[in-house]
Amino acid sequence: MKNREIEVEFSIKSGAPEKQRTACIVVGVFEGRKLSGPAREVDRASDGYLAGILRGGDMEGKAGASLLLHGVPNIPAERVLLIGLGKEREFHEKAYRDAIASAVKTLRDTGAMDAVITLSELAVKKRDVIWSIEQAVVASHGTLYRFDAMKSKREDARRPLKRVVFTVARRGELKSGETGLVHGQAIARGIDLAKDLGNTPSNVCTPDYLAAEAKRLAKAYRFGCEVLDQAACEKLGMGSFLSVGKGSDKPPRFIVLKHNGGNKGDKPVVLVGKAITFDAGGISLKPPAEMDEMNYDMSGGGAVLGAFRAIGELGLPLNVIGLVPSCENLPDAHANKPGDIVTSMSGQTIEILNTDAEGRLILCDALTYAERFEPDAVVDLATLTGACVIALGAHPSALYANHDPLAREIEHAADHAWDRVWRMPLWDDYQEQLKSSLADMANIGGRPAGSITAACFLSRFAKKYHWAHLDIAGTAYKGGREKGSTGRPVALLVHFLLNRVAKAS
Ligand code: BES
Ligand code: MN
Ligand code: ZN
Repeated sequence: MKNREIEVEFSIKSGAPEKQRTACIVVGVFEGRKLSGPAREVDRASDGYLAGILRGGDMEGKAGASLLLHGVPNIPAERVLLIGLGKEREFHEKAYRDAIASAVKTLRDTGAMDAVITLSELAVKKRDVIWSIEQAVVASHGTLYRFDAMKSKREDARRPLKRVVFTVARRGELKSGETGLVHGQAIARGIDLAKDLGNTPSNVCTPDYLAAEAKRLAKAYRFGCEVLDQAACEKLGMGSFLSVGKGSDKPPRFIVLKHNGGNKGDKPVVLVGKAITFDAGGISLKPPAEMDEMNYDMSGGGAVLGAFRAIGELGLPLNVIGLVPSCENLPDAHANKPGDIVTSMSGQTIEILNTDAEGRLILCDALTYAERFEPDAVVDLATLTGACVIALGAHPSALYANHDPLAREIEHAADHAWDRVWRMPLWDDYQEQLKSSLADMANIGGRPAGSITAACFLSRFAKKYHWAHLDIAGTAYKGGREKGSTGRPVALLVHFLLNRVAKAS
């Protein structure tokens, strides 16, 4: 029951839009009926045909608008698709990505099997050609993505979109465009994998399923891969991690992926992803509303596997370790009970006041396990707290770090990938909320600042290295009617690593 891969082939080209022999040429129109550069060339070649259409009032250029034209005179393309771009002064990152998405959506629903999209040559302030092409590929993939592995009948398009060409303005930009294409494709494939894993329901996507996926990746890209079972984790003393899965009959798995692309002896980056394949809350059972979304509680782990797919595609010259602790949080006679005290791999004891604060219980042992790699940096990703969703909503992931340069590195990568983060405080003042009279700490810190106290809890296990934590509870998936994984923050992670490669060379 695998989801199908997106089969569109992307390429780049420079050349006169009015001469493209294609099923559809896509050109942009700014608000106020202002033709973009490529649109103007099509207009000129067709003796003002586009200007005539605009005068007729069929396209004002508002963002989200589109108009498909057939038989435009003197133009070899079978169709011309006009895409509204909104105000030219406000044509920033989001407007650019939305315009690409709108073009691809329309192309998918028309009979065009190939297309030339010229929106990619429009200037976006502060962004270069590499960025524009990469974002175009990622946004197109995102639009074409569908998860129908669980449908009994797949809806196949009659004439599916097969080839998309993005244009660059000058021949001299082809090389940069090529880089953007390679990065964009790798990131898009990584995102697709993270989405597939997230969208696969928890009766299929179990800890074992994730482990099998990691092994498949390892085989395809020659990563090292180890899957630690219950006994191996017991030997390591992972008492906190193992306590969470006790209420489930799906055995826990601790997945280790190793990419040795760098020099021997180069300290690795360690990526850690929370992978609770279903979070019912345990004995501190969640209320029924939205509990169906808790299969997405493995999204941190899914993003680590997605990032590894991109790492493999790009053959990054870096050493990277992926750690994915995975289990299920269910209520049962064997499950953790409120008040239970467990001993983590670090030796620190934890009073479990709420069994639903389980993410930190599995991550803390993974953070201790990470020490053995003497990492240059550790970044963990987790759908950790509902409080994070209340604080920041669905747009940025919450960023915490115990090292300012690492935080800035991540902020920079996030901005470039357009997979944004917002830094939150990790002040000692908040640590007090985790006090326990019976154990070294409690696993919850009360209602105030829930995302922060969760990060504070993790920080106690990340003292030996530079560490950052991303609370992705609001960004990893969409709930409700649009239910589905977003594949975030795979793009951020890949850029974080790409920037490190650039710095090293
Ligand atoms: N997986 C949840 C966090 C979550 C909630 C993610 C909603 C996405 C949407 C996590 O394990 C959890 O249950 N956290 C509790 C912590 C609380 C008991 C301190 C929460 O946020 O309610
Ligand atoms: Mn929980
Ligand atoms: Zn959870």
